[in-house]
Amino acid sequence: MHIAMSSATRLIFNGRCYSFNLFCAPVSEQLLYRRELKYRETRMDVYEAIETRRSVRAYGPDEIDRAVLLRIMDAARLAPSAKNLQEWRFVIVTDAEKKLRLQEAARGQKFVGQAAAVIACCAKTDEHLMACGQQCYPIDVAIAIDHITLAAVAEGLGTCWIGSFFEDKAREILNIPEAIRVVELLTIGYPADSPKPKSRLSLDETVCFEEWSL
Ligand SMILES: Cc1cc2nc3c(=O)[nH]c(=O)nc-3n(C[C@H](O)[C@H](O)[C@H](O)COP(=O)(O)O)c2cc1C
Repeated sequence: MHIAMSSATRLIFNGRCYSFNLFCAPVSEQLLYRRELKYRETRMDVYEAIETRRSVRAYGPDEIDRAVLLRIMDAARLAPSAKNLQEWRFVIVTDAEKKLRLQEAARGQKFVGQAAAVIACCAKTDEHLMACGQQCYPIDVAIAIDHITLAAVAEGLGTCWIGSFFEDKAREILNIPEAIRVVELLTIGYPADSPKPKSRLSLDETVCFEEWSL
């Protein structure tokens, strides 16, 4: 496999790797290249990422480095899925005009156009049912999205799930075939505010042992 990149184009600064012609290579090659570098970031503890994550609805102007985005998407790729179907597919949108059109599709939610990227989180099939009667695809895509949101925190990025959007409009804007479900949109970018934690029910209200007592 040829990887279209020479070591001369790689800059390591502050423990981060910046690559200049990485964008020319297909995504799979970019990932392989990253692995070949045996590139390692300082990892954040998973509990810290869970506790730090907030829905971020204000973003700064900085773009997200392609290598960072791919590292985050790799966390989605590694998510579990029913029967290991891996039906998730992602369209990452950074084009300003398209983001504004997605903002309209998301009922005008202003921060959608402001985010560095909007990720259309899709499912390739919506046919599979589990024996328990639940559909596989929304669960599987949601798990992958959650991986993205937590990996984003570890990268100093903020995200917000967008369920309030018109699927047909998103499909049309992104040229997504009819058979593909657009499950959620997800905004991602460098936070421009620090939202306070939202309240949660207590463990006593949500968890019981051995039999239903809630
Ligand atoms: C499936 C789903 C859909 C959501 N849709 C939207 C949305 O369209 N717009 C929005 O601003 N927030 C949306 N949110 C974010 C929730 O409002 C948010 O997660 C919740 O209020 C808890 O706040 P926190 O994420 O900061 O802990 C969504 C969250 C989920 C999980």
